[in-house]
Amino acid sequence: MPSDSLQLCVCEGDDGAASLPLPSAVARLPRDCAHATHVFWQGALGLALGPVGLPYAQATRVDFSDPALLYRLRTSGKRQGLGKAVGLDKTKGPVRVLDATAGLGRDALVLAHLGCEVELLERSPWVHALLDDGFRRARNAKEDSVRNAVSRMRLVHGDARERLRALAGSTAAPDVIYLDPMFPPRRKSAAVKKHIGLLQGVLGFDDDIAELLTLALAAARRRVVVKRPPDRAEIAGPLPSFTLSGKAAHFSVYVNSSFSSTR
Ligand SMILES: C[S@@+](CC[C@H](N)C(=O)[O-])C[C@H]1O[C@@H](n2cnc3c(N)ncnc32)[C@H](O)[C@@H]1O
Repeated sequence: MPSDSLQLCVCEGDDGAASLPLPSAVARLPRDCAHATHVFWQGALGLALGPVGLPYAQATRVDFSDPALLYRLRTSGKRQGLGKAVGLDKTKGPVRVLDATAGLGRDALVLAHLGCEVELLERSPWVHALLDDGFRRARNAKEDSVRNAVSRMRLVHGDARERLRALAGSTAAPDVIYLDPMFPPRRKSAAVKKHIGLLQGVLGFDDDIAELLTLALAAARRRVVVKRPPDRAEIAGPLPSFTLSGKAAHFSVYVNSSFSSTR
């Protein structure tokens, strides 16, 4: 949940991008940044959000053409890491994934690049605004891989808990539900990545992780995948069917028993 001390404002850059329309939630923010903790910038590189004092160029944007992300797309496969956790190594045909905790959309982009149809749900209006801006630019990206992946992604603003309740037992239920919530820290870590650090500063931590898992287990047709820090215990509730640990991420996978052949 967002910290009580969060104070947002918006600055429109004077580099020609100021005339671009701002997402409505951002457009309503004050222009007076005297007491702000975080600033939205509208500039030539797109919409960016950062703590007060950080230059626009270093603030966080959703950039699906970021070189590190393009490298991740080139090196991701269906038989490893996220692709394997979602079951792409065992499944033919398109897999429908609901990414219920979209964040900056990086994992969703990888899944769409691997051929999944991905619906992204994000409840924070601020993170949703960054994502929406990133989608707008990615539709005209010069990289075919980015344009193709984004064409398989659909962004929705809302709380996943409501959507999961509505999907349980329905014919629209996705094959896989992916959860990557913000876990409260166990101990202070200086090594938080820049973008995750921003999300933590703006959003705080997610306190509804166990509820999300319960709802996801009732709604997924084939499996639920939870990305969690390697040093954390499993989420309260049923034990995962199996876990996958890699250098970059740890996944707990809950296979729906009626689809156990997909494991
Ligand atoms: C750690 S980030 C996800 C990062 C993402 N996997 C990526 O690759 O960029 C978690 C995000 O989930 C969102 N979130 C948490 N609980 C949610 C819920 N119940 N409904 C929708 N979004 C939620 C938070 O607002 C936050 O943006």
